[in-house]
Amino acid sequence: MDQILAIETRDLTKRYNDFVAVDRLNLSIKPGELFGMLGPNGAGKTTTVLMLLGLTEPSSGSCRVFGHDPFREPLKVKSISGYLAERMGLYDDLTPEQNLRYITKLNQVPEEEARKRIREALECVGAINYADVKVGKLSRGMRQRVGIAGVLVKKPKVAFFDEPTQGLDPEGKNELLDLLKRISKEEGTTVLLLSHMLADVQHICDRIGIMLRGKMVALGTIEELRTKTKEDWVIDVEAENITPKLVHDLSSLHGVKGVDRSGKVITVRSEKDIRQAIMEVFLHNKTVPISLRARERSLEEIYLGYLGER
Ligand SMILES: Nc1ncnc2c1ncn2[C@@H]1O[C@H](COP(=O)(O)OP(=O)(O)OP(=O)(O)O)[C@@H](O)[C@H]1O
Ligand SMILES: [Mg+2]
Repeated sequence: MDQILAIETRDLTKRYNDFVAVDRLNLSIKPGELFGMLGPNGAGKTTTVLMLLGLTEPSSGSCRVFGHDPFREPLKVKSISGYLAERMGLYDDLTPEQNLRYITKLNQVPEEEARKRIREALECVGAINYADVKVGKLSRGMRQRVGIAGVLVKKPKVAFFDEPTQGLDPEGKNELLDLLKRISKEEGTTVLLLSHMLADVQHICDRIGIMLRGKMVALGTIEELRTKTKEDWVIDVEAENITPKLVHDLSSLHGVKGVDRSGKVITVRSEKDIRQAIMEVFLHNKTVPISLRARERSLEEIYLGYLGER
């Protein structure tokens, strides 16, 4: 028997009047996967999750969470899902402990079990020492951790984190991402991480989907995303005396897709290996490159490439 999918969408679509926020999205995520949904502002990430949680109705198409339809069985889906919203809903006047207790009450977790889960969750996220400090007095990073603890106390089968690293410093970001990875690996929770920052998803996610204008334009492991774009050559040439004419001549070469300059380095993207032709342009311009090197595109460039198509 096929294993049931944690998340499955079929031509899932959300329209706001004439505007299509999510456009025939087909996505399959396996139980236990840590999936990164990457995309710029307005790509449709949050809207997708709201549909998966039954919080907004699809215009057409369908979705399932562990086999359940969020619209036909909203309570079932809510009971197995955890959600840290973009603007997470913690009560500033309550302590982390009290906030989590409120969540366990809403979810009808028995008292004894609730106490245990709250402790475990606060310990897991490293907020146990702040259990009795009002949330309004906590730093942003600590509040974010408490928000994640709020997801954990539900012991969800699938957890959605919408831009959880927003506003955190680099160290806080890394700690929080490590935490998400740990939750996914140790608890076996399926995790969907939404972000517009490549750095957030590229080190911890099993697979990444890049969303643009409501469509998933690329999907796969980091390795797969890299190899899919391997037909592109990226050639870095370091040189002194880079003139506008030189840049222009390089841009005019056959097969060149783009030329960028950063300080002494010119980066040429091309359809094929044109190192020889590049060399000739340099010599023609009476400049000898300090170095010339062909390399694979970094994921950053791939992502920016997609954003450039916006
Ligand atoms: N209730 C609504 N009514 C009209 N348009 C909406 C509504 N909600 C979202 N949209 C539009 O749908 C598009 C997708 O929004 P969504 O919030 O899903 O994007 P996102 O990928 O989460 O972006 P961000 O990174 O900014 O959070 C946006 O253009 C947004 O303006
Ligand atoms: Mg969003």
